[in-house]
Amino acid sequence: MTHFSEQSQPLSIHEIAPATHEELFQAVDGLNEVIAVRLPAITSTNDYKCSLQGCGELIAEIARRLGSQATLVVLGEIVDLVRVLENLEPSTRYQHWVAIRRTVAVGNDNRRIPNEHFGLLILTRYSQSLRHTKTRIAYTYCPTCDKTTKDYGGKKHTYHEGGTLLSDVWRDIRVDLADDLEPVFTRLADLFGLEPYKQLLVIDLARLYLLRIPAPLGFVEFDENSLPQELINTVINADCLETLRQIPTGSVDFAFTDPPYNLGKSYSGYSDDLKIKDYFDWCDKWITELGRVLKPGRTLALLNIPLWAVRHFLHMESILSFQNWIVWDALAYPVRLIMPAHYTILCFSKGESRLLPGLVGESEASRHQSAPRTFNTLRPLADNYCLRADCVGSRIALRVDDRAPLTDLWGDIHRLKHNSRRVDHPTQLPPHLMYRLISIFSKPGEVVIDCFNGSGTTTLTAHQLHRRYIGIDSSEKYCEMALERHLEVRNGIDPFRKVERVLSSKNSPVPRLKKQVYKVPKKTLQLEVKRIAALLGHVPSRDELIGHTTYPIEYYDQYFVSWGEVTAAARTTGMSERRSNGETETPATVTQLRLLEKPETDQYSTK
Ligand SMILES: C[S@@+](CC[C@H](N)C(=O)[O-])C[C@H]1O[C@@H](n2cnc3c(N)ncnc32)[C@H](O)[C@@H]1O
Repeated sequence: MTHFSEQSQPLSIHEIAPATHEELFQAVDGLNEVIAVRLPAITSTNDYKCSLQGCGELIAEIARRLGSQATLVVLGEIVDLVRVLENLEPSTRYQHWVAIRRTVAVGNDNRRIPNEHFGLLILTRYSQSLRHTKTRIAYTYCPTCDKTTKDYGGKKHTYHEGGTLLSDVWRDIRVDLADDLEPVFTRLADLFGLEPYKQLLVIDLARLYLLRIPAPLGFVEFDENSLPQELINTVINADCLETLRQIPTGSVDFAFTDPPYNLGKSYSGYSDDLKIKDYFDWCDKWITELGRVLKPGRTLALLNIPLWAVRHFLHMESILSFQNWIVWDALAYPVRLIMPAHYTILCFSKGESRLLPGLVGESEASRHQSAPRTFNTLRPLADNYCLRADCVGSRIALRVDDRAPLTDLWGDIHRLKHNSRRVDHPTQLPPHLMYRLISIFSKPGEVVIDCFNGSGTTTLTAHQLHRRYIGIDSSEKYCEMALERHLEVRNGIDPFRKVERVLSSKNSPVPRLKKQVYKVPKKTLQLEVKRIAALLGHVPSRDELIGHTTYPIEYYDQYFVSWGEVTAAARTTGMSERRSNGETETPATVTQLRLLEKPETDQYSTK
């Protein structure tokens, strides 16, 4: 088992495969347990756009019949989970879209990126945040240096020997939707092993023989036109809709966009908190325009949170053709409960997609100055290899093949962490994300558009990759910023280099402290709190700390952003970075927890 859950009373697992709707509804009526509904997998790769007829309505009906404390988990293909969310009633709360890794990536016709994940939706009948046990995933180790894949640097004392907390991308479980899903069910039984639940009821819908229906045939104009010279290589300060309407139909080769998410971010000159209906009505308009300006066979890629991507999907499928649901695991490290760590990059083509340039050798694989040495546009880093400079150096010297095939599950691109890489924009994307997307979906010399260009990540990377570009943004400040950086590209300067800047916009709600000189290292202070916690038998309060610490309390007040950070080491066990003897290390707490587990046979029974 690659996870362990703190204080879990694992649920007993029962599986049923009802043959009729009556049998199904009888099993769920009034049930206040955890219910995992398993939708059938796609059996032919050509069916990836075809959803199961009526599956959305059926799941909505199951949800309606459950008790008010039930948790409903739905496992299925992307197209089917979209239908589930489309039909969900407000009395059922969406909690998470979890991406689960497939054993084998499917679809290799080079018209879409091979698909390596399916989804697990977590829904609840209660409206509060999701209740589940604190569940950790064991650390992974680099096959070359045998140290943890992530470099925890000087923070090892604040991590837990049992691993990192669970996120919404489960890369450690590799299963196919059509096969035995026992590892997923075991995880769910531990994850939800708390009151009032006793049972995980797995409902396999295979015997209802739901049919797959063809995707809607979107109507688009299939003209192809050239772009007026004055629009080529421009950053336009204007409203996206007004500008898009001036661009000829069928004149663009790749459209990418990262719109405001309507989550209340503070942009310069734009209020990010429309009524939800107004927000999506507006989105539908610019999506339609982007679809219109694309040339036939080309792709529109739209980045958003998974729930919003579902709503975009419903509009996009009415005009374009579904191609890929890329899971970009932006590598956040969860600190509390399951944390949303991934974004969706929804890709739709105009009619049938052409052969994708990045998959058929019409766009070169490359790495870039500002990206880590391990990054390659079209050849991702294989799982578990670390980024430590000395290990990367030895891999190069030893000619270790640390590359993996490109699929639609991306875990090698980190969101921008360091302020030195950021300009003054609250939601700037990492350039490597754009290097990869532009390299997959366009050839050198082709036209790339972004109608929410912000600080210019899309047009700048397009410029560096020798594509032509159009960037639109309603903020004068961001357009100026982008234009200045295009000048840098023209002068051979990397616009994504590290620069010390004073930033006024924040991309994180976490407060930051000013740079300062520490009279005592922060680690020493955190370990001091840990020592006092051991003495008292609990994590100290501020007053208790004052009574016991040998350091001035001002240090704690000035050096840390929160009390949580002061007590971080006291609340965890600390971890070791190196795997012992080349074997998987079993931390002491894991062993203890295993002793509490029920025998396998008790846990997994079939009715
Ligand atoms: C999520 S940000 C894009 C960030 C960009 N990908 C980057 O890396 O810098 C969204 C952008 O949309 C812009 N925006 C908001 N409303 C707009 C509109 N009606 N027309 C054009 N741009 C708009 C905002 O100014 C903001 O820069």
